Amino acid sequence: LRTLKVALLGCGNVGAQVARILIDDADALAARTGARLELGGIAVRNLDAERDVDLPQELFTTDAETLVKDADLVIELMGGIEPARTLILTAMRHGACVVTGNKALLAQDGPTLYEEADKAGVQLSYEAAVAGAIPILRPIRDSLSGDRITRVLGIVNGTTNFILDQMDSTGAQFADALAEAQRLGYAEADPTADVEGYDAAAKAAILASLSFHTRFALEDVSCEGITAVSAADIAAAKEAGFVIKLLAIAEKLTDEDGRTGVSVRVHPTLLPREHPLAAVRGAFNAVFIEAENAGELMFYGQGAGGTPTASAVLGDLVSAARRIVLGGPGRTETTTGHVPALPIDAAITSYYIGLDVA
Ligand code: HSE
Repeated sequence: LRTLKVALLGCGNVGAQVARILIDDADALAARTGARLELGGIAVRNLDAERDVDLPQELFTTDAETLVKDADLVIELMGGIEPARTLILTAMRHGACVVTGNKALLAQDGPTLYEEADKAGVQLSYEAAVAGAIPILRPIRDSLSGDRITRVLGIVNGTTNFILDQMDSTGAQFADALAEAQRLGYAEADPTADVEGYDAAAKAAILASLSFHTRFALEDVSCEGITAVSAADIAAAKEAGFVIKLLAIAEKLTDEDGRTGVSVRVHPTLLPREHPLAAVRGAFNAVFIEAENAGELMFYGQGAGGTPTASAVLGDLVSAARRIVLGGPGRTETTTGHVPALPIDAAITSYYIGLDVA
């Protein structure tokens, strides 16, 4: 069997699980891929940091640049913009396929990365960047590529879904539900990106780009978080038969001024309690898609966590490796750019999503 060299950048919760699976499941992965996926090294900032998983010390290095130049496949799980961006570009220019979970980078600078991947003829995949373990990007990009998606509704931030669910089921105020989310380890010590909707907005830009074949960036997404949602709002919604969910929404529509485009937005949304997304409890994620021919589809699962997110990373890795084995990755994006983003001020048309289920 041919051997493909894998470089891993970052060894946090997800990275450590990816390394473990690459080592423990090496034989099964080789059988499925048609090539051995050899973990050549793990680039980290601090060689002595505590890890979630016991991994061979000789794999660790602080020299990420040398590692990526010598790899067939690069997995970027460092997060943040730099040096992740430069390392991904370097990897692709050296002919490596890249797998990343870096939603902030993709939302901010995705177009540059996609163009570079096309130019270099390599695959750039990022299933782990949206809704953790849930296979959602490849179904949109591949399985639904012969259909026309009309609307995407996503619960793509587990922390805020947990908080709203706590408020709905216990009557708690926002601050108390947030404290509980932090106690259980869902929310970060600084939960701003979650509760202000920025994390969901980055994921909305990625979902919208693939669903509408247009490259949307974070600045195209209208964003409102959940900090202003009160226990009284939740109780009133409940009384009227609704649940309040923080949704990432991308839909094609014509606004009051006759402008047709894609409204990409994140905001607290009133959903009828019978809507399939209303049943998504706790820190789970789900994405509900409406397509012209397929009709309604829903994808559900764990949106965060080391092992679930590692599953998505490994899926991308095996898929990229299979393409290399078969003789080159080819184009992975089909961007036609024919549907513009609606101006931000026109993006929010309603805080209500109805129930179209037949
Ligand atoms: N903070 C995110 C969430 C983690 O709560 O869903 C996954 O991006």
